[in-house]
Amino acid sequence: MESIKDLIREARAEIQKAPTDRALGDTEVKWLGRKGRLTEILRNLKNLSERERKAQGAEANRARIELEALIRDRRIELRSAAAKTELARERIDVTLPGRALRHGRMHPLTRALDEIRGIFEQLGFSAIDGPEIETEWYNFDALNIPADHPARDMWDTFWLRSNQNLKSKNEKGKSGQKLLLRTHTSPVQVRYMEKHAPPYRIIVPGKVYRYEATDASHDVEFHQVEGLMVDRDISVAHFKHVIRHFFERYFGAKKLSVVLRPSFFPFTEPSFEVMVNCIQCDAKRCAVCKRTGWLEVAGAGMVHPNVFKNAGLNPKGLQGFAFGFGVERLAMLKYKIPDIRLFHSSDPRFLKQF
Ligand code: DAH
Repeated sequence: MESIKDLIREARAEIQKAPTDRALGDTEVKWLGRKGRLTEILRNLKNLSERERKAQGAEANRARIELEALIRDRRIELRSAAAKTELARERIDVTLPGRALRHGRMHPLTRALDEIRGIFEQLGFSAIDGPEIETEWYNFDALNIPADHPARDMWDTFWLRSNQNLKSKNEKGKSGQKLLLRTHTSPVQVRYMEKHAPPYRIIVPGKVYRYEATDASHDVEFHQVEGLMVDRDISVAHFKHVIRHFFERYFGAKKLSVVLRPSFFPFTEPSFEVMVNCIQCDAKRCAVCKRTGWLEVAGAGMVHPNVFKNAGLNPKGLQGFAFGFGVERLAMLKYKIPDIRLFHSSDPRFLKQF
């Protein structure tokens, strides 16, 4: 009897002190398991006299019930303490400011091209595509620039080594034609007019290539937007209105002056350089306009009759304007970007500003 009381005291103390659920499991096995100390006593009851067995048996059973209850309580205690610690450790302070996610952005050139396309589309112009690998015919001859014409020097050209595969794609079937990377988007004027009847109101945004040394304002690869509007009586006045409207919207300027300066392009007659007053300094003269108060923003002119003829049209009664400008240059002016090469530098410090 005495020894069971001692045993219970010892077991109670051990249960109360068990530091973890796991340690408690060990204690449980030690006392109540198949080879546990109390189990042993219960098993040995059969060796006792009937009187002793009755007394000890009752005692030992009470002890087992008590220990089981103690273990159950201690287990609940330990588990809820562990859960509390866990919760405290995983506590999230929802009042802390979040960590900003880095998200992708549109490339400034894509943005510029989208904006430009949007403005012209609202004026009823459709955006048209053309090939970047072009034939000598479309890039030069069809635009009234014959092989021996000095104007060809205006476009430093990447000529391509002729390739059977590419030759067979030549739509005009002029096999043996020299191929090049288009130096401007103007050839698409002719390609479009060949396939569609007038009137025309299109723009051609696209990539062009020039074989020249790079510097802050020149790159071998850049983008142009070509424009073409032709009907029976489209005049320079229409052109001035369209181009002024476009630049006012693109630069977000309330009122821009447009001045046409005489120039020369073989595919237009007359030809002009388009000047707008400087968006940066409002004619007070800054570095952007090189202290002139004016920016040169496009080449343009009235479509030359030979270009209509080369597209298979009768130039009689057809009249319209064409223009072309560099997209990088416009974006540089708008966002004060100092070097054209930044556009394909992939430098996140540059790109994340847009
Ligand atoms: N294609 C010319 C260039 O790349 C730009 C240009 C000038 C386009 C006059 C035109 C135009 O359509 O009429 O320099």
